Amino acid sequence: MNDWKAVCRLADIPVLGSRRVARPRGMDVAVFRNDLDQVFAVLDRCPHKGGPLSQGIVFGTSVACPLHNWTIGLADGCAGAPDEGCVPKFACRVEGGQVLLDPVELATHAIDLHPPRSGPGASTGPLGDQTFEVQAPHSA
Ligand code: FES
Repeated sequence: MNDWKAVCRLADIPVLGSRRVARPRGMDVAVFRNDLDQVFAVLDRCPHKGGPLSQGIVFGTSVACPLHNWTIGLADGCAGAPDEGCVPKFACRVEGGQVLLDPVELATHAIDLHPPRSGPGASTGPLGDQTFEVQAPHSA
């Protein structure tokens, strides 16, 4: 087991809320606290269309995604039926009032997943490899 990394105090996470942990590479990790002071950590990316789970509503051991209201189990990272899909989860524990994550997992786990993109070219190629025509405004 790796040494654990303190990312914040438990008190820094609102009850039934979350806090995002930035990583050097890869998307943020969303750390949730429920009303029993249980703490869970998953990638801040809904398995449906990439919604920011950290902005969802926490209830029990689940979070409702803010985009389309899928329910994601925080213990296993998986969507509740009939929806399907799972978000990568991260090992997490609380000790001495500190929220701890595994630093190796933070540095390596799910770093290949990216935030969703919108707008022209959202369904094509990596961001930045597309050239778009921008229509000039009509002149009078
Ligand atoms: S993106 Fe989360 S429910 Fe659609």
